[in-house]
Amino acid sequence: MHIDIISVVPGLLEGPFSHSILKRAEEKGLASVRVHNLRDYATGKQKQVDDYAFGGGAGMVMMIEPIARCIEALQKERTYDEIIYMTPDGDTFDQSMANRLSQVENLLILCGHYKGVDQRVRDLFITKEISIGDFVLSGGELAAAVVADAIIRLIPGVLNDETSALTDSFQDGLLAPPVYTRPAEYNGIGIPEVLLSGHEAKISEWRFEASVRRTKEKRPDLMKGTGWE
Ligand code: ADE
Repeated sequence: MHIDIISVVPGLLEGPFSHSILKRAEEKGLASVRVHNLRDYATGKQKQVDDYAFGGGAGMVMMIEPIARCIEALQKERTYDEIIYMTPDGDTFDQSMANRLSQVENLLILCGHYKGVDQRVRDLFITKEISIGDFVLSGGELAAAVVADAIIRLIPGVLNDETSALTDSFQDGLLAPPVYTRPAEYNGIGIPEVLLSGHEAKISEWRFEASVRRTKEKRPDLMKGTGWE
């Protein structure tokens, strides 16, 4: 998979993709991420990418021309399965959206800033609008990093057995069960006996029941329609 990200603050995206699992995905040739500076597609001495809103009011609006130039240049290189705009008024991101997006070849993500982009950008180019939650960030970059991370770790081969996504929270619609590691006793506090039994079927059963219990307690909304209510 290849992900292109368009940003006016590319520096914000330098860190996340050069560490740990995402770095390994790139090294294994399973995923690549490139960040493009929108200002490189602006014209004039000022390299202007935003302007006042028609109709007045506070806040700047990202102009259509540099964005159109950037998207059209990138489209000459590849065909995108989705052109995504990160915005608080988009569809809320969740694990099922991550699963679906992890199966495509090429994604383009546009990060909003200021008051957002000229509506015509959304009408002409954007195929999917994503929010990572009901709060407002100062730009779409951190949201884009969240989405890219959640997607890339689901690409087959990116995770190994130790980091497998199959047992993640939400992957089967439930929260993950509690986990424990050494020591088996800490200050007199033990761990569930069954986990020391070596009995795989019993351990699986305990984990499933603990998942259901935890989900009922913390996120009863997730239980609806699972059949385990
Ligand atoms: N840009 C600003 N806030 C955002 C959010 N919550 N989700 C996605 N993009 C954003």
